[in-house]
Amino acid sequence: MCGIFAYLNYLIPKKREEILELLVNGLKRLEYRGYDSAGVAVDSAASKDISIIKKTGKVALLEEEIKSRSNELDVSGTVETHCGIAHTRWATHGIPNEVNSHPQRSDPRNGFVVVHNGIITNYKAVQTFLEKKGHVFESETDTEIIAKLIYHFHEQHPNYSFRELVENVVQQLEGAFALCFKSKYFPGECVATRRGSPLLVGIKTATRLATDHIPILYGKEDPPPSPAAEADSNPEHRPHGRGEFPTLPRTGSTSEFEPLEDKQVEYFFASDASAVIEHTNRVIYFEDDDVAAVKNGSLSIHRVRRGGDDPHKREITTLKMELQQIMKGNYDFFMQKEIFEQPESVINTMRGRMNFENGTVTLGGIKEYIPEIKRCRRLMLIGCGTSYHSAVATRQLLEELTELPVMVELASDFLDRTTPVFRDDVCFFISQSGETADTLMALRYCKLRGALIIGITNTVGSSICRESHCGVHINAGPEIGVASTKAYTSQFISLVMFALVMSEDRLSLRQRRQEIITGLKNLQHQIGEVLKLDNKVKLLAEDLYKKKSLLIMGRGFNFATCLEGALKVKELTYMHSEGIMAGELKHGPLALVDETMPVLMIVMRDPVYNKCMNALQQVTARSGKPILICEEGDQETMSYCQKSLEVPKTVDCLQGILTVIPMQLLSFHIAVLKGCNVDCPRNLAKSVTVE
Ligand code: UD1
Ligand code: GLU
Ligand code: MG
Repeated sequence: MCGIFAYLNYLIPKKREEILELLVNGLKRLEYRGYDSAGVAVDSAASKDISIIKKTGKVALLEEEIKSRSNELDVSGTVETHCGIAHTRWATHGIPNEVNSHPQRSDPRNGFVVVHNGIITNYKAVQTFLEKKGHVFESETDTEIIAKLIYHFHEQHPNYSFRELVENVVQQLEGAFALCFKSKYFPGECVATRRGSPLLVGIKTATRLATDHIPILYGKEDPPPSPAAEADSNPEHRPHGRGEFPTLPRTGSTSEFEPLEDKQVEYFFASDASAVIEHTNRVIYFEDDDVAAVKNGSLSIHRVRRGGDDPHKREITTLKMELQQIMKGNYDFFMQKEIFEQPESVINTMRGRMNFENGTVTLGGIKEYIPEIKRCRRLMLIGCGTSYHSAVATRQLLEELTELPVMVELASDFLDRTTPVFRDDVCFFISQSGETADTLMALRYCKLRGALIIGITNTVGSSICRESHCGVHINAGPEIGVASTKAYTSQFISLVMFALVMSEDRLSLRQRRQEIITGLKNLQHQIGEVLKLDNKVKLLAEDLYKKKSLLIMGRGFNFATCLEGALKVKELTYMHSEGIMAGELKHGPLALVDETMPVLMIVMRDPVYNKCMNALQQVTARSGKPILICEEGDQETMSYCQKSLEVPKTVDCLQGILTVIPMQLLSFHIAVLKGCNVDCPRNLAKSVTVE
């Protein structure tokens, strides 16, 4: 999820100092993504060993650490051919500290080192196998198994090439990853690979490249089955039970590879073009399961198996973009990028937790506490702002699937009231950063009174994570835009998964649960569909951006979208906006409605459809001209309004995920039209660490 940068110089003399500086600068280019620690690995000066330098916190701290160790690193020495790897980490497995930072290593002598973006979901099975073989793990990361596994294969097959070893390693990995390897057994070589996480290589030569593509080399046989993967689902099939991982047949020496350049070349591997563009604009974007290796200065791309219409080559593309542009990808703002990241971030939230095949849900972080939670007297969900809305959004489902009383509270108000809390209460604290001051105070208040404390956070190692008894990391990846978007949908899904876990053994709820699980499975695709509304939403924003106010109405499962939509409009556009419970219209808000007041209504074909239609008619009867968010193809409902946004239908309790996205887009476009600072709205900060 975070940043990878690696640099290889071949037959180009460089001072160690220059190399370290280059690696650190590469990391600085990736800083905008957010991270919690950083590290580099380079060849040691004195011996053939590898030095690893890691630091919690900013890249600047890593830079200081490198300076303070300049003697030991022999920074003035020169190397002709060298490979260095570097990483910024956004922790998913284990707190952010030096041991858990990357590069991770194979053994105390740093035989193999690796940097990793993403999550390995089957790391436990591989770890168990390797522990049986005598490997001793030092970190809490999933990544460490990769370094130890390659070492294991190297010991078993000392004549395998670096690239072949990596190929065997990735056969055993499940999950999402981009990886860069370095090894003291293969000096001056670098191997990189990816699956589900971006990775590219920049190529720099003194003269123009002789080629515009790299041929892909395919393996000769099908890969062996992955016992580690099986072990994950079937404890009977642990790899150590069978003795060994089967390995791929050797595919031959690199001499059969067509060398790209035989002299003087530099390679820049990175998870993001922003780290590469200042060095070269000639890059290759890797595809899933490409294994790229640099040996003797030449780059080869290998794939284990050939599929039907797989290509023969990877094109070298020329980057034309400006740095600023690359950092935000194809987007102008981080918030926009994060809105469009939601098809992936929701998958990352569910990764390793939802098993769609057998319909089971595992939340590793609270698993042991489930019996205790099931005995509680009430659930309390506490948060501020958007996090609070994720609780509003899921309350009804929690009530339905747990049959427990569910209280949803704003942290500050909860404290003002000195609300009674008891030992048999279960309290959830929801916060993207895990540092929100009000939420943290409420947490301490409840902890003192003996309640069970559960955190729902996006930030491993944050205060809420540390001070809670247990919790769920939403794994949405770093969120930079001050206005939260992808964290909201991931918080939402985390709470839905919790409701599913709580109702696991309830026969009467089987069908309902299955319907929700199917809904979750289709979410990624449906979010993609909703995002296609972008242009339509932009047109709406053009109608709205000069208005003074926007009322957003809905009820039931979509009420939270009204609150969250109004909050987005307020924080981004400084325009007045209010989320209104449609059932409350007659009790006041209807007085606001006339032909000039902009109104947006969410009307889905769910159990409150008829009630929503009542509200819609009340609004139109006052000459209001509501904009509608409704179900795809619902002509009947649309006939009541001039403008509508159609979103795909999902199960009622997940619909709020699909209806909130047009609101995120709308507030974004209004803000752009009004010339507001989208990523840093006035008076607001990303994490509110003061009361
Ligand atoms: C863990 C890994 C996850 C991996 C999964 C697979 C970590 C941080 N997470 O996730 O990346 O996919 O195993 O086995 O190693 N916690 C709190 N408060 C919070 C949030 C979490 O105390 O606010 C605690 C949890 O109780 C747990 C730990 O932090 O002990 C990790 O939580 P989480 O990442 O949600 O657990 P898993 O999903 O099991
Ligand atoms: N899962 C790895 C870890 O927690 C990598 C996280 C990242 O992408 O930075 O160490
Ligand atoms: Mg904790």
